[in-house]
Amino acid sequence: MSQLVKNIVKHHHASWIELRGDRLLANLETLRRHSGTSDILAVTKANAYGHGLGEIARIMDGKVSFFGVATLREALELKERHPRTPVFLFGNPFPHEIPAAIGANLVLSVSSYEKAREISDHSGQLGRTTSVHVKVDTGMGRLGIRVKDAAHEIMKMRTLKGLRLDGIYTHLPAAELEDDYRENQVREFTGLLENLDRNGIAFRFRHAQNSAASLSLRTPSLNMLRPGLALYGIYPDTALRKTVNLEPVLAFRARIAMVKKLKRGESSGYGRAFMADRDTTLAILPVGYSHGYPWTAWKHANVLYKGKRCPLAGKISMDYLTVDMGDQTVVEGETVTLIGEDHGSAITAEELAGWAGTIPYEIVTRLNTHIPRIVF
Ligand SMILES: Cc1ncc(COP(=O)(O)O)c(C=O)c1O
Repeated sequence: MSQLVKNIVKHHHASWIELRGDRLLANLETLRRHSGTSDILAVTKANAYGHGLGEIARIMDGKVSFFGVATLREALELKERHPRTPVFLFGNPFPHEIPAAIGANLVLSVSSYEKAREISDHSGQLGRTTSVHVKVDTGMGRLGIRVKDAAHEIMKMRTLKGLRLDGIYTHLPAAELEDDYRENQVREFTGLLENLDRNGIAFRFRHAQNSAASLSLRTPSLNMLRPGLALYGIYPDTALRKTVNLEPVLAFRARIAMVKKLKRGESSGYGRAFMADRDTTLAILPVGYSHGYPWTAWKHANVLYKGKRCPLAGKISMDYLTVDMGDQTVVEGETVTLIGEDHGSAITAEELAGWAGTIPYEIVTRLNTHIPRIVF
């Protein structure tokens, strides 16, 4: 950490997010090595899983085959700031979004012949050819052409002059389960690719592996990974911890805004949910549910103070939460860790999700965009 950054952290922010660029790149390499696949569509939607789109994209720019986002706004932001890396827009673009998407040279997803034709027509009018990846529904039951109709629809798409059929993909709803359902999805997708191949249609990019499948599925018919969560060093399922070592990219810290002594029998916070059963010291942190810290975690959550786990004292407010420090001597301005490592201890996003009764995806994607991000 440079002295300048240290000073910023020390003097300016009430709470902040630290991002480890080296770990992000190490996770990327770990996934490549483990899977034997070099092409990666790095999923950076939802503000790069809450980590900060600009910061994360800057670290991976030029090091992945695509960035993948779910909104036109995020796609255009990436194009403007990181023109080196192609941007893939997930989803089914609305008619009013198509001209801007084509104009920005985005790679678009198509889930029907009709949408493909619409994109092709607009491309023709703009004198462009748009790169698309065809989405096939092999069992997710969401977007995508049903696998049984896909060959026929793709043959029709081939005649569209404004499109380049560069990719084909599918999504696995239970990618962490090495079961018959997943196997059947892969078999149907591979069968489709072989059928298309026999008809002279080969796709440069063929992808299905989100994080869980990047860690647990290998099949020669696929040639690009499509991970999100794992890039950020978070496991989609605890059973996958045994596969490879991923390191969390993000730490969320705050400084103590005020120290308060509470007498036995006094309460703290809304609903008077915390009642001191002894004289104790509270540390009040300037972080609440408006920052994305999950309100439902209040009964179980801990934070780290000098590496020691300390429980919350009562309910989480909009802008504050209160920590029961017991008889420790704490000082206003000292740092507390809400997610991340501190003096050899750690609280992971997965653990906080467990306390809150949710999934780690929700924990990180909800981290407020206004929290300053500091890249190391
Ligand atoms: C179509 C698609 N592919 C890939 C991903 C990445 O999933 P994960 O974060 O589990 O790797 C997502 C995430 O929502 C997705 O919707």
